[in-house]
Amino acid sequence: MAGCKVNLMQNLKNEELKRWIQEVADLTQPSKIYICDGSQEEYDRLCNEMVSSGILKKLNPEKRPGSFLACSDPSDVARVEDSTYICSKNKNDAGPNNNWADPVEMKTKLNTIMKGCMRGRTMYVIPFSMGPIGSPISQIGVEITDSPYVVINMRIMTRIGNKVLESLGNSEFVHCLHSVGAPIEAGQKDMKWPCNKTKYITHFPETKEIISFGSGYGGNALLGKKCFALRIGSYMGKNEGWLAEHMLILGAESPKGEKTYIAAAFPSACGKTNFAMLIPPVEMNGWKVTTIGDDIAWIKPAKDGRLHAINPEAGYFGVAPGTSLRTNKNAILTIAKNTIFTNVGLTEDGDIWWEGLTDVPPAKLTDWQGQEWTPEIAKETGRKAAHPNARFTAPASQCPSVDQNWENPEGVPISAFIFGGRRATTVPLVTETKDWDHGVYWAATIGSETTAAAVGAVGQVRRDPFAMLPFCGYHMGDYFAHWMDIGKKITNPPKIFGVNWFRKNAEGKFMWSGYGDNMRVLEWMIGRVHGTAHAVETEIGKAPSFTDMNWNGLPMTEEQFTELSKVDTNEWLNELSLQDELIEKLKDRLPNKFLEIRKETQIKIESRHSSIKNPGLNLTAKSL
Ligand code: GTP
Ligand code: SPV
Ligand code: MN
Repeated sequence: MAGCKVNLMQNLKNEELKRWIQEVADLTQPSKIYICDGSQEEYDRLCNEMVSSGILKKLNPEKRPGSFLACSDPSDVARVEDSTYICSKNKNDAGPNNNWADPVEMKTKLNTIMKGCMRGRTMYVIPFSMGPIGSPISQIGVEITDSPYVVINMRIMTRIGNKVLESLGNSEFVHCLHSVGAPIEAGQKDMKWPCNKTKYITHFPETKEIISFGSGYGGNALLGKKCFALRIGSYMGKNEGWLAEHMLILGAESPKGEKTYIAAAFPSACGKTNFAMLIPPVEMNGWKVTTIGDDIAWIKPAKDGRLHAINPEAGYFGVAPGTSLRTNKNAILTIAKNTIFTNVGLTEDGDIWWEGLTDVPPAKLTDWQGQEWTPEIAKETGRKAAHPNARFTAPASQCPSVDQNWENPEGVPISAFIFGGRRATTVPLVTETKDWDHGVYWAATIGSETTAAAVGAVGQVRRDPFAMLPFCGYHMGDYFAHWMDIGKKITNPPKIFGVNWFRKNAEGKFMWSGYGDNMRVLEWMIGRVHGTAHAVETEIGKAPSFTDMNWNGLPMTEEQFTELSKVDTNEWLNELSLQDELIEKLKDRLPNKFLEIRKETQIKIESRHSSIKNPGLNLTAKSL
């Protein structure tokens, strides 16, 4: 730290933290070191500095008080899965679902590319807590970063600052090192959005370390989120008997006032934030949904024999496009103030806009790349006002539907898990699995179309087990086995359901209205949990018949519902063969039970398939 100014050093009681700050500063050579206290004053100061340097635009305070817009480099707009590594000692412990690198070799490489990488920049030290400070489920990390944009986002997404340092004392913490990888040499001007073509998002689960280089965006840079809360968290969970999941958590209160907590995993940009903040249709007579979390759940077996979940985050880093008063009113109200917008359009009156926010677009705006945009230009060129992975960062406390228990250190008891993907074909609206192990099989084999949340092709079906493909910090086969084990540790395991909001008809239109209407599916699932709803048996599980669901206020015909719920044996035989790739990859570490369930499923589907061709053997749907 020679020659380098440091504030608040006297606050640092943690010997390892002092040593590590010194080590990182020696390597990266920043011009200043700044330890974040987490105060509002500090947040405002950093925002003002970023407005002066041009990284942030202040939005019109009359339209959007306390809010800012950041626009990233077009090359740095989403998670980079190809550059994401799990560096376990043994390659097989990372498993075939992850990129692997030897930890010593990766650190040697990073030490070379990070030499002097913070030159000309301030090195920020952010102590943060994932989960309410002091909760027995919470964990503490420290992120060192050279991006002030990361600091302000981390202040919304996690709990940061002095209170975390106090709680940490001299204990262990997860080391999270981040650099945009763009030193400013003497006389050089800073880039508009500093980043580096070379990117490495690396995880060292065995030593609880994260090193991220080259990107300033989202999950690549806000290291508490996917890197810590999911990749390192899932590894810790496997060793310590808990689960770190890519799940929203919601509370559903019935018209009778009975509250049921549910956690649901859908892949990135497949509807978690929307489902977590759902507003039931008025015709559904008094159902109410409250929000615990919209992206990540940490789940532990509790003394009452049930699984309890907390949201380790404190804010939402939500997908902007498609968010509107009609689709997600609670999100729109949450982002009314004190929000950071990234890669959305800027209107003439200093507010924001994105595709889907309003039916009628503004006549003119500045798009996320700083170019003039009009609806006419959009029509001609296909250019979007907002990047498809544009996001808002907003405090959870501002959400009108936030649950009164959202910061309860003990978490909330989970009564059901839901797993879903984005599937134009094959997968019916809702399926109830037979039991815990069958639910694990269902979750493990879900496929989903890729989205703009990660760099790469969009719309391709891939297996995304538990919506954790990009986020599991260890071998996916061990992860399935861990889920099966957890089921044995609890007395009353939650029911497990599968859903698909995204089935399309022959014209390519969504067959299901989705959003608030997902309450109809939720009501049926809750009825199943409490033993009050009826179901019929299908080859892949149980499902509601047309009359088992509440259609008040929604024009749904029995014919349409049959299409939406159809289990087509041709499609399912194809689906089973699509699962083979995953099973082949993981077979060394797949639990036997898993293969047995797959076999059973295959027999059922094949039997109906041949009975369709040979109607004498018809197995009709059996009432339960
Ligand atoms: P991540 O933050 O990337 O993990 O995404 P997420 O799972 O929270 O997804 P989100 O709720 O932000 O939704 C992503 C996109 O899907 C948005 O454009 C939504 O408008 C759209 N979407 C969400 N729910 C539904 C639904 O029920 N039906 C349809 N058709 N689209 C939906
Ligand atoms: C996701 O991709 O699942 C997200 C956004 O929630 S990011 O924080 O970039 O991972
Ligand atoms: Mn996510």
